[in-house]
Amino acid sequence: MTRAAAKSRRPIRSFVHRARGLTKAREKEFAVLWERYGRTIPEQEFQPEALFDQSGPITLEIGFGHGEVLLNEAQVCTQHNILGIEVYRPVLFSVLRKANQLEIDNLRVVSGDAAALLPRFPDDCLQQIRILFPDPWPKRRHQKRRLLQDRFLAECARCLVPGGLLHLATDWSDYARQIEQTVGKTACWRIGSDLPDRPETHFEQRGRRLGHEVWERVLELKSLDTSQG
Ligand SMILES: C[S@@+](CC[C@H](N)C(=O)[O-])C[C@H]1O[C@@H](n2cnc3c(N)ncnc32)[C@H](O)[C@@H]1O
Repeated sequence: MTRAAAKSRRPIRSFVHRARGLTKAREKEFAVLWERYGRTIPEQEFQPEALFDQSGPITLEIGFGHGEVLLNEAQVCTQHNILGIEVYRPVLFSVLRKANQLEIDNLRVVSGDAAALLPRFPDDCLQQIRILFPDPWPKRRHQKRRLLQDRFLAECARCLVPGGLLHLATDWSDYARQIEQTVGKTACWRIGSDLPDRPETHFEQRGRRLGHEVWERVLELKSLDTSQG
């Protein structure tokens, strides 16, 4: 196969692999933390509640970065189970370290590409999905890499329980417009409850420093009717 043909068969990803790994000492510590918090998502017959020690509603945060919101929610909502998916290992490591220091028990994390992993989740299994400040891919030719597009949002809808919440934020106005258009094409979402009280995230602060306005919505899943509305 030619290099060009191989490239055209590669899935379009919402991230680039960054080479920065962990030092040997950190790899050791990571392995211990992973025992406690890390999980893998099997390809078949997977029940998310089995990842946790207690039963309770599950919030999934995708691309949690430095974990400000993930850790805060795990501490504030101790009866809830908090699941994070993040593809970048160095931030995973620092979040697990903080979780361990804070003695958090209701948190599990998965390392990998949420676009590949979410289709493995069963229907109606999540109370809430949170995606804050996803990589913006501002250049037009890169916008196909944006995570929040028709197919991914339809997967989110499939995984949420009826009445479940999808919490989104971005500081890129054209990404916000694109999300609103995508959401507006289906009849399954309504603008949901008030915005939750949450800590500012790392990328949110960066956006504000650049003078960006933050767009944030909580969408409530009303039905899975995906007809044009
Ligand atoms: C712009 S950062 C935002 C991080 C954090 N939510 C914040 O607001 O500071 C986007 C994060 O999503 C992660 N990410 C991007 N695509 C992903 C994917 N397909 N699956 C899991 N994580 C992803 C990146 O590694 C990065 O940590």
